[in-house]
Amino acid sequence: MPHNILTDQNAAARLSGLLESAMDGIISVDDAQRIVLYNRAAEKMFGWTADEVRGRPLDLLIPNRYRGVHGQQVRRFGATGTTSRRMGDNTVLYALRKDGTEFPIDASISQLNAPEGKLYTVILRDVTERVKAREDLAAFASESAGVREQEKSRIARELHDELAQMLTALKMDTIWMRDHLPREDAAAREKITQMLAMLDAAVASTRRIAADLRPLVLDDLGLVAAIEWAAQNFTQRTGVPCRLEVDETLDLGEPYATGVFRIVQESLQNIAKHARATEAVVELKRVADALVLRVQDDGVGFRTGDPRKPQSLGLVGLRERVHLLRGEVRVDSAPGAGTRVDARIPVAEGAA
Ligand SMILES: Nc1ncnc2c1ncn2[C@@H]1O[C@H](COP(=O)(O)OP(=O)(O)OP(=O)(O)O)[C@@H](O)[C@H]1O
Ligand SMILES: [Mg+2]
Repeated sequence: MPHNILTDQNAAARLSGLLESAMDGIISVDDAQRIVLYNRAAEKMFGWTADEVRGRPLDLLIPNRYRGVHGQQVRRFGATGTTSRRMGDNTVLYALRKDGTEFPIDASISQLNAPEGKLYTVILRDVTERVKAREDLAAFASESAGVREQEKSRIARELHDELAQMLTALKMDTIWMRDHLPREDAAAREKITQMLAMLDAAVASTRRIAADLRPLVLDDLGLVAAIEWAAQNFTQRTGVPCRLEVDETLDLGEPYATGVFRIVQESLQNIAKHARATEAVVELKRVADALVLRVQDDGVGFRTGDPRKPQSLGLVGLRERVHLLRGEVRVDSAPGAGTRVDARIPVAEGAA
């Protein structure tokens, strides 16, 4: 005869003590979803006392909009025969307090076939602090990404408008000097020719550094022009043609323009660095209320499942960027089969 804890007075008392001292809310409901057990932690969380809720439907503790779905899910869980699982998988679940306010919870459910019928037990924890911390972190990341871009934009603009202009003026003056040197001073003329070559190189690197920081076309002419510039730049450096299938009528504001541009830039950089491709393709269009971006190459590909090399931050940054925009990204690749980066970014109404 198995030892039955429910008929053993001491064990029952111990069990009840355990339930009452638990930090997590513990609620059991019967087959008809009526509350049969409700511990002290649950009292604190929900504001109802055990006496107030005993025998009442579990719906009392669930926000209105989830009630139907929740009932169905519990019944489905009951039918599976699985003994326990986490509730809500990847979404945040919400519970309802006596005063009508809601709070986010982590919950798991288990089922037990008791002699009186099926018993479901939910163990739950108030995760308000954690959810808030995560939201704060996301807001901070988004804010700091914006600030970084503004800073890059300012430095790029100053390099381009001030430093490059000054170097160009210096070059004009140097040419003037060369033209006014006595014909016979060959050594000085030679020196000045060298100076002019260096000034040309200095102007070129200033422009390049500025454009790498943030291409001015992005702010001046918009995303489509900036993608065209990036594609030309890519082909110039690598000799690999880049086909563009970009909706020219797209007129995207921030943060979308910068986000999409940086994704295209990183993807093209990867193709230049790793792919040994014969062609690259960039596609960008709007489908309903989302931007759909694809950057593809026909190069050597790589194993996407391999662990990340510690110094490789490109794809991590790319994912981070897409998540900041609340979008989704997929990188498909295999050795010999090329690489494809697909991003789908929802666009808020009025942003485009
Ligand atoms: N288009 C591609 N073709 C082939 N391999 C690629 C391609 N894109 C990425 N990879 C592979 O994935 C790895 C990770 O890419 P990721 O952009 O994260 O880092 P990285 O390019 O190595 O360095 P970083 O971008 O930080 O300068 C690369 O090292 C490369 O092996
Ligand atoms: Mg990279």
